Amino acid sequence: MKEELSRLKSEAIESLQRISQASELEPFRVRFLGRKGGSLTGIMRRLSEVSKEDRPKLGQLANTVKEEITTLFEQKKKDLAQHSGTQTKKGLDLSLPGRRIPFGKLHPVTQVMEEMCAIFEGMGFAVAEGPDVETDHYNFEALNIPKHHPARDMHDTFYVSDSILLRTHTSPMQARIMETQDPPLRYIAPGKVYRCDSDITHTPMFVQVEGFLVDRDVSFADLKGVLTSFLQQIFTKDLAVRFRPSFFPFTEPSAEVDIACVICGGEGCRVCKRTGWIEILGAGLIDPEVMKMVGYDPDEYSGFAFGLGVERIAMLKYGINDIRLYYENDLRFLSQF
Ligand code: DAH
Repeated sequence: MKEELSRLKSEAIESLQRISQASELEPFRVRFLGRKGGSLTGIMRRLSEVSKEDRPKLGQLANTVKEEITTLFEQKKKDLAQHSGTQTKKGLDLSLPGRRIPFGKLHPVTQVMEEMCAIFEGMGFAVAEGPDVETDHYNFEALNIPKHHPARDMHDTFYVSDSILLRTHTSPMQARIMETQDPPLRYIAPGKVYRCDSDITHTPMFVQVEGFLVDRDVSFADLKGVLTSFLQQIFTKDLAVRFRPSFFPFTEPSAEVDIACVICGGEGCRVCKRTGWIEILGAGLIDPEVMKMVGYDPDEYSGFAFGLGVERIAMLKYGINDIRLYYENDLRFLSQF
């Protein structure tokens, strides 16, 4: 009888292991644990036939086997219920809406860059993109900034090697495009630029939009018209704009362009350092030297160029006072745009 019990136990464990559906549970229970005709009950009934001395031991063993099989059976029942999802847990409300997947958005700097490009495209400019890793030639030489020119100081350049660098501005695109195409040309070139600099108005990577136009008889008045129209479209219709003489090696004459402070409306505040004006971009007529280097005849063609920082425009549009906020990846900041 002892052997019979241990055989029954291994048989029960084996068939329990094979069970994979809840519908198989009841036949198992009837077969092994059922009161009428169950294998265990059968054995227990026959205990009366056993000698008096052996009876208590065998009875105890039979009970233990029964308990073990019952425990394993209950465990199996639980497992199947959990996996099939048929269990109706208390507090589970199947009519609740699912968790939403949050939508991503464009970065505020990308949004403003796209808006700027759209305005220039509306004025007939085509969009071109160039490499972030640039040669010394296009970043400096082709823009009339030779090796020991003092203007190189302003650029805080990240060098990769003696002749390879991370572009410090988008102006190299002027030379790259002029070199491969003949006038008339009207291009903007948006993209990342890099300078070793970091404070509340500088990040080591930032975004510029370069623009230039080359044709016959292009004058400073054309430049003023295009830039004033652009600034009034991106800020406000009646925005005051002023051009100040300045210097860039690749333009002659050169200018810096200011707009009336969009924070105080020109009254004077901390943002405009009480001047009422905010410097917004650099521009000028393309230097004849730059024209000659790409093989254009400066007596036949003239052109203008300009470059502006996208973060700066976005800061003024949204009233942001620290440029570094754009690149800290804090969703509480980014999700506001
Ligand atoms: N490349 C200049 C800078 O990053 C900005 C600039 C000034 C671009 C004058 C121009 C320009 O095209 O004409 O500081």
